[in-house]
Amino acid sequence: MTESCTYVIFGATGNLSRVKLMPALYHLERAGKLPEGTRILALGRRDWDSQHFIDEARDWIDQKLKEDLDGTVFQKFAERIDYFRGDLTQTVMYTKLHSYLEQHSEFPSNIAYYMAISPTEFGVVIESLNNAQLLDETHGWRRVVIEKPFGYDLESAQALQRRIGRYLREDQVYRIDHYLGKGTVQNVLVFRFANTMMEPLWNRNYIDHIQITHSETLGVGSRANFYDGTGAMRDMIQSHLLQLLTLVTMEPPVAMEAEALRDEKVKVLKSVRPISPNSVHAHAFRAQYGEGQIDGQRVVSYLNEDNVPKDSVTETYAALKLYIDNWRWRGVPIYLRTGKRMARQQSMISICFRHPPQQFFRDTQVEQIQQNWVLLGIQPDCLRMEMTVKEPGLEMRTRQTSLDASLRSADEPMTDAYEELLLDVIDGDRSLFLRYDEVEYAWRVVDPVLRLWATERDFIQTYPAGSWGPQESRRLFEKEEHRWRHNLGLEDN
Ligand code: BG6
Repeated sequence: MTESCTYVIFGATGNLSRVKLMPALYHLERAGKLPEGTRILALGRRDWDSQHFIDEARDWIDQKLKEDLDGTVFQKFAERIDYFRGDLTQTVMYTKLHSYLEQHSEFPSNIAYYMAISPTEFGVVIESLNNAQLLDETHGWRRVVIEKPFGYDLESAQALQRRIGRYLREDQVYRIDHYLGKGTVQNVLVFRFANTMMEPLWNRNYIDHIQITHSETLGVGSRANFYDGTGAMRDMIQSHLLQLLTLVTMEPPVAMEAEALRDEKVKVLKSVRPISPNSVHAHAFRAQYGEGQIDGQRVVSYLNEDNVPKDSVTETYAALKLYIDNWRWRGVPIYLRTGKRMARQQSMISICFRHPPQQFFRDTQVEQIQQNWVLLGIQPDCLRMEMTVKEPGLEMRTRQTSLDASLRSADEPMTDAYEELLLDVIDGDRSLFLRYDEVEYAWRVVDPVLRLWATERDFIQTYPAGSWGPQESRRLFEKEEHRWRHNLGLEDN
């Protein structure tokens, strides 16, 4: 039975808490998954009291929910919540927090600190927790959940790790990449390792290339202060997309167990061919959205969004070509691509198989046999295999069809990634969290690109909002016939 814990949420009045954490915790309450006695201590700078926080949380959850909020469930949830006002930068806040937790025996002695705060504050908050003996494990465990990005580049990630490593053991650190909490992402592992028919084909002998795409119709919204210093390469590729890449390409781990899984993921990242400074332009492409249309509505360019400097060259679109230099993948290009304000909201992994030999059909009307694709839709969820079949009729003509093996039928509910991750922290299960070496090797992959881009501050390509990004990104393709796969369906792939 899972032990109860105190979830101390730093940054509890911020965006992540509103949009993800509070709704996810409420869902866990509704599903009866929160261990008896679990409490939530919400920390914020605002001059609120517990009742005010609870009222706000009710609104946030209400806005997020697709169905009506259940009053009885919310009441039970609200009873777990307290608000603690404090300024993260002041030492006195931590001593007060210590006494507060000590004086209130209703708080379970196991404590998870959730850092839903600016990445620049991770180090100082953990140091202050230590100085106030709040990491002391004499009574109960202490775990720290760290949001992404972990560092800003390789050097800062190393520095942050050195700093927190003075106060925390690796097994106390839960580095979040919320993509790993998505059921569809976990389904990638099941698809690969629970189906005998895929494994023999999953290598360079049969696979022509792989594409991993995350496109969003949303723009930068109110996050420009964070995003303008970050950009798409750091925000999406260094973390979520490289994680997807490791799951698609890693060797079978010895068990579905944290260290075994993470060992295999790190091996993949270590095998990625380093991008040398003079080959950055052949491997990476960046662009920024201009004005355009999304769902029939005019939207402004990135430069005209609130809080974006007028001369910003921050990329809102990034594409990267990688090679994994190991026996399984040598020579197979892997294209990663992400963008904001694109034509569609979608994340997918598309595996393109090699051309079958044409010889057999040489005296028929079949002109070109298409390649098979396996499409793993992360959102919306879908799993399809495209195959060539004969058209009915007397002539030898072919067409494409797809075998559908989607994860979920329409009436099965989708859980949010954060629900699973928040529970895993309480359970002490770290398999869906990042080990430090994964983070470090992911930075090593993108660092050469970021370094060069940092020196090229005069110009960035643009693309109209609502499009699939600039045509020029095609320059990454290894073969003329390669093209971005935008669709999960057959019709206009
Ligand atoms: C976050 C990024 O980590 O992931 C955001 O900071 C991005 O910029 C988001 O929009 C995408 O997550 P999801 O779950 O909506 O695909």
